[in-house]
Amino acid sequence: MSLLPILCYPDPRLHKVAKPVQAVDARIKTLIADMFETMYDAKGIGLAATQVDVHERLIVIDTSEQRDQPLVLINPEIVWTSADKHVNEEGCLSVPGIYDGVERFDAVRVSALDGDGAARTIEAQGMLAVCVQHEMDHLLGKVFVEYLSPLKRDRIKTKMRKLQRAERS
Ligand code: NI
Repeated sequence: MSLLPILCYPDPRLHKVAKPVQAVDARIKTLIADMFETMYDAKGIGLAATQVDVHERLIVIDTSEQRDQPLVLINPEIVWTSADKHVNEEGCLSVPGIYDGVERFDAVRVSALDGDGAARTIEAQGMLAVCVQHEMDHLLGKVFVEYLSPLKRDRIKTKMRKLQRAERS
């Protein structure tokens, strides 16, 4: 297994639209293992393949306290949403240090393939529902800061660029 570099906003590659995974083969299984290692190392609760510059519809999630409930969603599709939405504070491994409120459905039902390629449907609520919607946005090339006002977004872009310059020098 290996740690993968995580793309940082406003990297234009974060806006690529992911294509469906064609087969859950050895390459995808290695990618899943590497993405979990990368996510746990970065203390995140979710990671989309887009964030490690692989533009295929694959996300890994673990919202458990104990970090022992890994969830793999391949080619996820939302098949049902709750009527209610609420604003929750979100963060993102691609936008380090930034947290802000985004409105999401309270609950969603998602059909996907698991890490073995088996079809399954999961119902998510609470933090898991927020996380699933956030990660699925990544697969569409959307980062959560795009829900914020243009002014906030510009401030975040400036801050991220400064941070990235400081890291390079
Ligand atoms: Ni994210």
